[in-house]
Amino acid sequence: MDSTKRPLVFAANWKMNKTIGEAIDYVYALRPLVKTSPNQILLGVPFTVLRVMADYCQGSNLIPGAQNMYEKDEGAFTGEISGKMLLDAGAKFVILGHSERRGIFHESNEFVNQKLKKAVEIGLKPIVCIGETGEEREQGHTTKVLTHQLKRSLEGLDPTQIGDIMLAYEPLWAIGTNNTATPAVSQDVHLFCRRWISKEFGEKAADKIVILYGGSVRPDNAAAILEQKDIDGVLVGTASLSAESFGKIVNCLETKHLNFT
Ligand code: 13P
Repeated sequence: MDSTKRPLVFAANWKMNKTIGEAIDYVYALRPLVKTSPNQILLGVPFTVLRVMADYCQGSNLIPGAQNMYEKDEGAFTGEISGKMLLDAGAKFVILGHSERRGIFHESNEFVNQKLKKAVEIGLKPIVCIGETGEEREQGHTTKVLTHQLKRSLEGLDPTQIGDIMLAYEPLWAIGTNNTATPAVSQDVHLFCRRWISKEFGEKAADKIVILYGGSVRPDNAAAILEQKDIDGVLVGTASLSAESFGKIVNCLETKHLNFT
């Protein structure tokens, strides 16, 4: 499979961090650091700063997006935000099924699947997160767990839609722990996912789908992760909160995928 066909993606997941003022300062600090980057730079931000981010990212190579959505367009769903509202506020992508949403807020694969279908329908690029716990890995259940998550979360999509979504492999034991998966371990899982996509949705979809790695990515380990053939980018939590360290991650590797247009 030809990795040069896929864009290299650097996605920040700010989680529940930053006020409007802090978000604006961040954009001012990050823009000059990454202005010559040929790659895709995505900022997954809280709902409350999305509109402002959309304005401040305009004319730059920074792409704002959200960290969650609800599957319905509107209605009596207190506290929820629809994909339509995200588009209206300037989001271009949405993170779905993050392990913190699955774990803390009990989101099932089926729920993630409903949101995914809606995001695809309305033209909001989804990043679907999957990953196993440390215990599941130790017991040798990694591929079984991932297969289940992939099967249920992606159910009902057609191959042309699959090529247009992004997956993020985020092993739970690596998130916020400083315990990054080795590049070889992540490559193995990414290849497994790509082969699974190929079997279920065809080689074209597998060639096209962008698969990110997330879990304790930092400026000092990002390049080694990104050098892996089936790793198309990173989804960064803690190290994305500082413009300086996220800028270093974006600039850690300049040559991969430069021919992508
Ligand atoms: P950390 O980079 O803090 O490990 O978080 C990863 C993550 O959850 C990104 O979505």
